[in-house]
Amino acid sequence: MGDWTIRPMRPEDVPVAERLSDEGFYQLDLRTQRADRPPPERRTVEHSAGWERRTRHFLETDPGGCWVAEDDSGVLGFATSIRRELMWCLATYVVRPGLQGQGIGRPLLEAALHHGRGCLRGMLSASADPKAVRRYRAAGFDLHPQMFLIGEVDRSAIPVLDKVREGSSSDIELMDSLDRRTRGAAHGPDHPLLLSSFRLLVSDSSTGSGYAYVSPGRLQLLAASNRRTAQRLLWAVLADTEGPALVPHVTAANHWAVDVGLAARLDLHQEGYLGLRGMKPPAPYVHHGALL
Ligand SMILES: CC(C)(COP(=O)(O)OP(=O)(O)OC[C@H]1O[C@@H](n2cnc3c(N)ncnc32)[C@H](O)[C@@H]1OP(=O)(O)O)[C@@H](O)C(=O)NCCC(=O)NCCS
Repeated sequence: MGDWTIRPMRPEDVPVAERLSDEGFYQLDLRTQRADRPPPERRTVEHSAGWERRTRHFLETDPGGCWVAEDDSGVLGFATSIRRELMWCLATYVVRPGLQGQGIGRPLLEAALHHGRGCLRGMLSASADPKAVRRYRAAGFDLHPQMFLIGEVDRSAIPVLDKVREGSSSDIELMDSLDRRTRGAAHGPDHPLLLSSFRLLVSDSSTGSGYAYVSPGRLQLLAASNRRTAQRLLWAVLADTEGPALVPHVTAANHWAVDVGLAARLDLHQEGYLGLRGMKPPAPYVHHGALL
């Protein structure tokens, strides 16, 4: 490895970053025997296109939060981060396998963190990689272990479901207010991206309100004003899955989700951490891995 530098990410870096992210996380999945993410050869063109679209969105909303490390050979690593109201979120952070643990990640994370100066809160979803965890703790993040639930839903366990409907862009105001109430900052410009990528379910009744984004077989993001509404939404998500279901990113503050998953006879596992600065684990809330 020769001399390398850190510079702002540019749109033409996005496809290279996508491949690097796949490689970095696949190596990590092998080491941690993670079962819920398919290997690169089984990941779809759709998955890559979605990743690239999301990263271009970060470059548009937060050009100052996205950085790459490069040398003569090309991109060695990158970090993307966003600021939403007074919240900073780390979206993705990877150094090329084979070059990790040699000090490239540290200045990359520092550049991304600089984008969040003045923010009161910070969120990131940490992998189980000890190098990542080391960096995050050094940056002052509290580490809250994450659980996930996976398996075939026992359809006989699904309760009668009411008060859940399809959502649309007319629900963005409601969702932003639920975001502020649960995690202290609205997703703002991320809702149109989420809406164009995932199905939205909304529950809005006199007893409470909430929303859930879902992709086939997987909960993406959920926020609600109370546990009962959150559970109703999660059941609606599970009722709609065919084949294996995945409920990722569940913290100990969200045992309502563990209870639904176990009642649906999913298996409970643990992986990685929700890293937080200036806040407690949001609840009732299941975060998105990159948009948090
Ligand atoms: C996380 C990641 C981006 C960090 O980049 P990096 O270049 O490896 O980071 P650095 O070398 O600057 O820092 C790594 C730290 O771990 C230490 N370390 C190195 N090898 C290690 C090992 N095998 N086990 C534990 N710690 C190790 C380093 O000494 C350094 O700590 P220090 O600065 O206190 O001495 C990179 O390791 C990576 O891509 N990992 C796989 C993908 C991933 O998990 N990304 C994070 C997603 S949340």
